[in-house]
Amino acid sequence: MTATEGRLEGRSILLGVTGSIAAYKAVDLLRRLTAEGASVQVLLTHSAAAFVGRLTFETLSGRPVLSDPLELLPDRRIAHIVAAREADAIVVAPATAHWMAAMASGLADDVITAACLASTAPVVVAPAMDAGMYAHPATAANVDRLRSFGYRVVDPESGLLASGLVGPGRLADPASIVDAVVAAVARGAWLAVDGPGATSAAARHDLAGCRVVVSAGGTAEPIDPVRFIGNRSTGLMGAEIARAAIRRGADVTVVAGHVSVPLPADARVVSAPTTAEMREAVLAALAGADVLVMAAAVADFRPRRASSTKLTRDAAPVLELEPTEDILAEAARSVAGRVPRPVLVGFAAETGSLDRAPEKARRKGVDLLVANDVLEPGAGFAVETNRVTLIAADAAPESWPLMSKREVAERLLDRVAALLAARRGQSGGSGQSGGPVQNGRADPPLVADVAVSPSAREDVE
Ligand code: CTP
Repeated sequence: MTATEGRLEGRSILLGVTGSIAAYKAVDLLRRLTAEGASVQVLLTHSAAAFVGRLTFETLSGRPVLSDPLELLPDRRIAHIVAAREADAIVVAPATAHWMAAMASGLADDVITAACLASTAPVVVAPAMDAGMYAHPATAANVDRLRSFGYRVVDPESGLLASGLVGPGRLADPASIVDAVVAAVARGAWLAVDGPGATSAAARHDLAGCRVVVSAGGTAEPIDPVRFIGNRSTGLMGAEIARAAIRRGADVTVVAGHVSVPLPADARVVSAPTTAEMREAVLAALAGADVLVMAAAVADFRPRRASSTKLTRDAAPVLELEPTEDILAEAARSVAGRVPRPVLVGFAAETGSLDRAPEKARRKGVDLLVANDVLEPGAGFAVETNRVTLIAADAAPESWPLMSKREVAERLLDRVAALLAARRGQSGGSGQSGGPVQNGRADPPLVADVAVSPSAREDVE
């Protein structure tokens, strides 16, 4: 089941608030952005905090406000840089004359200018100040300069100002600022410069024209018409991968089991509640695909027989289970001879240790396996973060730090894009395709056992 999406569903927006009396209107803007489905990180300059307290923004955004460019996250990464890299758009409202001057000159002495400099996301600026300040040639030149960066400036309105004067300088209506943010997100980050170290996938568009299949959520195996054996997957990891692939220009099909998060509106969604249905949908979609990411938590077992009528309390049933199909292993076998071979990615949710992960990667015949220990804090079910280890052919397992699932998705697709590019290059020249994780050799016959252990299915999120 998928929920209806707002215009900014699943998007990360940075809201920069600078020191103007109009800062109180940023509270309304924040509410409107979250109502559109955005996750909003508020960046507050010290002078803005004199007008509206952090507590108001923290309560309404549900996350700590950032005010200090030197602030570190618990894992020691620089907070505003992480926020800047994850943002789909930055909106600075209200933007003072002083802030615009600093930004126009690239002076990174406050958290908002620092984030703007570090980001390749589109930037929307909504000035607010006294009419005389706005009309001053210095301000006008700074506005022009911000426009030359590709920033969208939402012109202030004319009206009664805090100074008592009447003229242009009132912050634009928050609804029109939201519209500008929606347009900026749709326009994508490629307006901005894709500078060194930039991670903006939208800026690279490195999956343009690729067909990507992502499975998401958990499968549900019916016991009777009202009950099923399921798992705790929400589908968030799969949704983030799908979203990231769309940002990079891919044509995305999501094969969705039971999901409790919104799926991207731009994806083709095929509903596949049971393992058998997911198998059919994945194999069909894989026929024309370049990439398969199995982020779904697929049941290992299903009731051998589902009752056609509701089981009653007095029946006290004993469930006989049978193993399900291993979809990923079957997918790997089905593309064994294809050149170039699609990139196959699996997920492995383990408990306590990841020792089994390299063997699992070989057994499944995948190129990449993303393993995590769901018992670790921040890496389990229905949380926005994950701490994963990437298993790739010919390489030692790579432990990634705790990061948002969105960042996991981006990093994973960096690797997928690199594999695809290498594989396409090889198939153009020699007809060879790169190999999956299989004893370090490229393109061997795939051997993917369908053996299923009796462990309970775990979420990959
Ligand atoms: N998977 C699949 N079909 C199944 C079970 C799992 O395609 N019937 C996929 C998952 O979507 C995941 C990968 O295989 O990408 C690994 O899943 P996991 O549950 O960790 O592995 P299992 O094969 O179930 O192995 P085990 O039970 O031994 O952990």
